[in-house]
Amino acid sequence: MTWKSGPVLGIETSCDETSAGIVEAGTIRGHVVASQDVHGAFGGVVPEIAARAHIRQLDRVVEAALEEAGMSADLLAGVGVTTGPGLIGCLLVGVNWAKALAFDQDLPIVGIHHMEAHLFANSLERPEAEPPFVALLVSGGHTLLLWVPEWGRYALLGQTRDDAAGEAFDKVARRLGLGYPGGPEIQRAAARGRPGRYSLPRPMLSTAAGPDDPAWFDFSFSGLKTALSLLVAEIEEESEGAMERARDDLAAEFQAAVIEVLVTKTLRATELTGCRRVIIGGGVACNAPLRERLAEVLSADGELYAPTPRLATDNGAMVARLAEHRLAAGERDGLDLSADPSLPFPGISKDA
Ligand code: KG4
Ligand code: ZN
Repeated sequence: MTWKSGPVLGIETSCDETSAGIVEAGTIRGHVVASQDVHGAFGGVVPEIAARAHIRQLDRVVEAALEEAGMSADLLAGVGVTTGPGLIGCLLVGVNWAKALAFDQDLPIVGIHHMEAHLFANSLERPEAEPPFVALLVSGGHTLLLWVPEWGRYALLGQTRDDAAGEAFDKVARRLGLGYPGGPEIQRAAARGRPGRYSLPRPMLSTAAGPDDPAWFDFSFSGLKTALSLLVAEIEEESEGAMERARDDLAAEFQAAVIEVLVTKTLRATELTGCRRVIIGGGVACNAPLRERLAEVLSADGELYAPTPRLATDNGAMVARLAEHRLAAGERDGLDLSADPSLPFPGISKDA
């Protein structure tokens, strides 16, 4: 089926960001992200509160994105919406909203996989961020190391066996008495601290196995979190105020451990594939020392593609970008489209 090209609306409501982006020919025309600040008080996202906030905000967010693009909804050429993975109540708000719009405006609609959209985010800023590349996707719910020979073909090299990288940042921040989301808080504390004063493990780095063993590429952050938690318990025993003095150094050591693991495994993927182009995405890709370290190790003969923070964290523009790609390829879904909290990554296999 041919598609009459034009501006595409992307809707993202999978977690605690209500966002709408409008993309045309790979360029952002309008983009609004409404973050939900209410969850900080609970130390994490409360699914029911998040879903209700999406209902309250989505009309206004889409209107603001259309306004920024200087257009009305009847000029849209298509709509894309995140159908998973994510929180079911949150996803359903976006999916039903998008379907109502598609029905009302007689627009083609495509359901979008949230992590595949993270992969496309970078190309909005750097059009040359096209495959082939090695991709490191690190968010609050996922840690994926992929080989991407072309769009739509994804070889899964490694993934987390327990907590996601962002989840580890959030949980460790909480244990250290820092706020939510934990990633930026840890980054700030780490900048004041010194790694090495305390010693934390670098999980799954010491394996003697080679590329044939999944452990070579897989991640695990749960043990690191427990190791830190035990250290905190010891320090708290020492004296009142000991934790105050240790906090920044603990944050620095934790961040250094995560970065060392992520960077080492990513380099292993570049060795396996012979491709030194690396793309990163997801909220943890905002982490400045991680970006600096990756850029440094790739500086001689490689290239790092790292989105600016507003496109690394959850946003509607990345959804619109992937939707435009899929609509242009003649794909579309029916109005029976639904949300799937554990939607499998499309086109993924153990070897590509
Ligand atoms: O991709 P994202 O916005 O939402 C999900 O799809 O999960 O990622 C959110 C995650 C949170 O765990 C947050 O703590 C983490 O990204 N994050 C960071 C930083 N900024 C956000 N982690 C480390 N350093 C940061 N600067
Ligand atoms: Zn995300």
